[in-house]
Amino acid sequence: MTYAIDRILLSQAEIEARAKEIGEQITEDYAGRNVVFVGILTGSVLWMAQVLKSVALDTQVDFMSLSSYGAATHTSGVVKIIKDLNMSVEGRDVIIVEDIVDSGLTLDYLKKYFAAQNVGSLAICTMLDKPSGRRVAIKADYVGFEVPGEFLVGYGLDVDQRCRNLPYIASVLARDGDDLIQ
Ligand code: IMP
Ligand code: MG
Repeated sequence: MTYAIDRILLSQAEIEARAKEIGEQITEDYAGRNVVFVGILTGSVLWMAQVLKSVALDTQVDFMSLSSYGAATHTSGVVKIIKDLNMSVEGRDVIIVEDIVDSGLTLDYLKKYFAAQNVGSLAICTMLDKPSGRRVAIKADYVGFEVPGEFLVGYGLDVDQRCRNLPYIASVLARDGDDLIQ
């Protein structure tokens, strides 16, 4: 299967302005505290980097890698830890950074996982929220943008591991016999 960019939903300028707002909001909400940001690989990296630049707090950064999707564009519903935290988060103020909340299964799993680590507090910061895809009730504390129920790529989001580098968020069309058009 090959894919083509359909239409751009969010520009680089829009995403980065929103990341700045959220970084500043987190700075206000966590004033005087030390925060651990946990990025969920790989999709969150561009967004996380952008938000972090506007966070003026004493912070630490860690990453986890989970699998739930495989190569398909629909969730398998199965979440598995591929890479665990490097540091202990017991008693810590943790903010999970995600690219997109779709079914909510990944974050549902992570909330339980972090509760079992006895964190001091837990919040979720996501670039995108796709409420139409929800299968379990999950609400993020910091949401960049609410998006429609289409499959999206760019700014970290992939289709078959491609398109993560696009500096904007776009919908894709699956096409046979064409090259990927960026
Ligand atoms: P959830 O567990 O269904 O909420 O899905 C979370 C993960 O699925 C995200 O971190 C993404 O990696 C992936 N995902 C969900 N929707 C999309 C999409 O539209 N484009 C690319 N990846 C997506
Ligand atoms: Mg992801």
